[in-house]
Parts: sequence; structure tokens; C-alpha cells
Amino acid sequence: MKIENAVALVTGANGGLGGHWIQGLLNSEVSKIYACARNTQKLESIIATYPAKIIAIELDITDESSIIQAALQCPDVTLLINNAGILLNQGLIASKDLSAAKTEIEINYLGTLAMCRAFAPILKMNGGGAIINMLTMLAKANLPANGSYCASKAATFSMTQGVRAELANQKTLVIGVMPGTIDTGMSKDYPPPKVPPTEVVKDALQAVMDGVEDVYPGEQAKELAAQLLSDPKALEKALAQMLPVS
Ligand SMILES: NC(=O)c1ccc[n+]([C@@H]2O[C@H](COP(=O)([O-])OP(=O)(O)OC[C@H]3O[C@@H](n4cnc5c(N)ncnc54)[C@H](OP(=O)(O)O)[C@@H]3O)[C@@H](O)[C@H]2O)c1
Repeated sequence: MKIENAVALVTGANGGLGGHWIQGLLNSEVSKIYACARNTQKLESIIATYPAKIIAIELDITDESSIIQAALQCPDVTLLINNAGILLNQGLIASKDLSAAKTEIEINYLGTLAMCRAFAPILKMNGGGAIINMLTMLAKANLPANGSYCASKAATFSMTQGVRAELANQKTLVIGVMPGTIDTGMSKDYPPPKVPPTEVVKDALQAVMDGVEDVYPGEQAKELAAQLLSDPKALEKALAQMLPVS
């Protein structure tokens, strides 16, 4: 798929990676960007970069009526970027209750699925297009320090495979992006290495153009992906050392 002249929609556009999606899409000469945020006031500086091409849309991906409203406002989307997500840094057993696990599932999994469902008919009407789901390498191997986040992203990884299969006939390319740690606010307390957000966006947009389904931006992600193939149990045991702080 050509990105030039595409009509893109980015969820969580005000977040750490959000601005880099917008800049990457502008560099790729898309024709329009719907920049979505729960609070559109947080988008003012992003809109100011190219007001002619960027339209602010209020969107909470856990709110069905908000999603319906966004779908009505954005009927020409050809590239859906499911970027919004949350990390609550909780263990599965160490957390005080299920509230973090529920919130992460609600946003990372169910919210992303709801967006895929709402925009699948729009993408079909517009010729197929593409969906990018922001996953993480931790979708494939659990890091206990944020065990419930990993579980929610594992669900989103599986969902991405299923949506890909269901949308193949309408020629929608469904991409899963699986970086290691990205250098944004979400991972400010995490140690290096961190992949630059520009590299994540560049690799993901290149995957759209090349028709690649699984993207591993940065060295850390590529090494983990290789380890998962060669010795998955060793990787599980290594990550098991990183327990929640009690
Ligand atoms: N940073 C990393 O190390 C890393 C690594 C791998 C994958 N990822 C994934 O990359 C994506 C972007 O992360 P980031 O680093 O940019 O994190 P971030 O700076 O925390 O941004 C997250 C964005 O998601 C939005 N969001 C959260 N809940 C939402 C909801 N219910 N509806 C709509 N928007 C919602 C946030 O909006 P508010 O401002 O309203 O909260 C914010 O704009 C996430 O899916 C994350 O899981 C990040």
C-alpha cells in the first residue's frame, strides 16, 4: 500500500509516540491525519505543526459511543493506527486487586479490538487499506514486573492474528508492531536500551508499504525475537528474574 495520499487515523495521538506518528505520516505525504485523543486540548501543539492536514478527534477507545462518533466523523480512513495503550506496572499476584489487569485489558485489548471492528467496514469501503496495532515484544514473553500489561498485549497479539485472517478477503493489511522499550514517557523508569520512537514509526510505515505483517523495531526486539525462536524457555526464565516491586 502507498502511504502517500493515505488518510490516517492515530489513536492516543497526544502520547509519547503519538507526535512521532504524526510527524512520520506528514513526512510520508499522507493527505489527511485524524489525530485522536481523549482530551483534544492536548493536541493543540501537534495540530499547529500542519493545521491544513491534521484534524483533532475526541476519542476514548473504551467508550462505544465515542468510537461510533469517530467512525462517523472519519469515513475516508485508509490507514488505522491503533497506538493508544496503557501500562500500569503491576504484577499479576502482587497487585492489590484486579483493577489494573481490568483497565489494561479494557484499553489495550478490548479498546483496540473495538477500533478494528468499527473501522473494518470503512477500510473495506475505501479499498482495503491497513491497520497497525501497537503491540510489544512483551506480548510474546511475560515480564512479571508488569505481568498484567504483558497479558493484555498477548491478547492483543492473538486478536491481531485473528483480525488479519478475517480481513484478508477485503485486502486489509493487518500489522503488529513489536518493539522492545521505546524512548517515551511510558518507559521513563526503564533502563536502556530504548529504541528511538522515530525508528518505530519509520519501520511500521515501511511495513505498510512493503506488505510486512510483523515488525520488530530496534536491536532489542530483534534479539528477543531470535531468542524466542531459538530457546523460548531460556527467555521466560531470564524475564522471570524481573519481579514486581512489592
Ligand atoms: N513506551 C514503550 O516503551 C512502549 C514499548 C512497547 C509498546 N508500547 C506501546 O506503544 C503505544 C504508545 O505508547 P507511548 O509510549 O506513546 O505511551 P504514552 O505516552 O503513555 O501514550 C499513551 C497514549 O494512549 C492514550 N490512551 C490511553 N488510554 C486511552 C483510551 N481509553 N482512549 C484513547 N486513548 C487512550 C493516552 O491518552 P491520555 O493522555 O488521555 O492518557 C496517550 O495518548 C502503546 O500502545 C504502548 O503500549 C510502548
